[in-house]
Amino acid sequence: MNEKKVVGEKAVEYVKDGMVVGLGTGSTAFYFITKLGELVQQGLSIKGVPTSKQTEKLASELGIPLVSFNEIEQIDLAVDGADEVDPELNLIKGGGGALLREKIIAKASKTFIVIADSHKNVDTLGFFPLPIEVVPYGFKMTMKHIRDLGSTTKLRQHQGNPFLTDNGNYIVDTSFQKIRQPKELEKNLNLIPGVVDSGLFVEMADAAITIIDKKLVTQVR
Ligand code: A5P
Repeated sequence: MNEKKVVGEKAVEYVKDGMVVGLGTGSTAFYFITKLGELVQQGLSIKGVPTSKQTEKLASELGIPLVSFNEIEQIDLAVDGADEVDPELNLIKGGGGALLREKIIAKASKTFIVIADSHKNVDTLGFFPLPIEVVPYGFKMTMKHIRDLGSTTKLRQHQGNPFLTDNGNYIVDTSFQKIRQPKELEKNLNLIPGVVDSGLFVEMADAAITIIDKKLVTQVR
């Protein structure tokens, strides 16, 4: 079973005519957006708000009408993937580096649904390296402050240079091992000058569409 395709296509059932829809980033969101594109071709009327330049390109190619984030007051529904999902539906996101726009859009959405294959489900967040977006200015000092919170840090690279986000920032991949208090960690990270945001999405997802024991399951928070 292509789990990413199954959960991505299931999420399309929550999209209704006239909605403004936040479009996630990554290989799972790809299936959601592709299916949505098919429905738009068949007459579904929605407007999409992309969470990355990559998604903007995909949605445009599929003929999904897009709206600028600053032109709208609210997003009805956002659907996005995740790198880890815990039983309370707290998430680690940002494996693809799009965490900041993803978080801004998730926060602005009336309903935020995460789509995740079975490998993403964990008891405690933290096995997947937590991505943190930092401004380039003084990034080494910012990394030191992050390490002071009990983590290792690694500046993400792309073709021999620091990886640049859509916002022109860097990504630091960190390892906090088991993150038992994600809310507290998120708060402490955001208190560090130079940190723009982290890939911790705490108490944000309203529902998760996932696969458990080879079955499609929708969990609600
Ligand atoms: C993008 O920055 C991420 O937050 C993705 O949503 C996350 O990494 C999940 O990606 P996949 O669906 O490709 O596993």
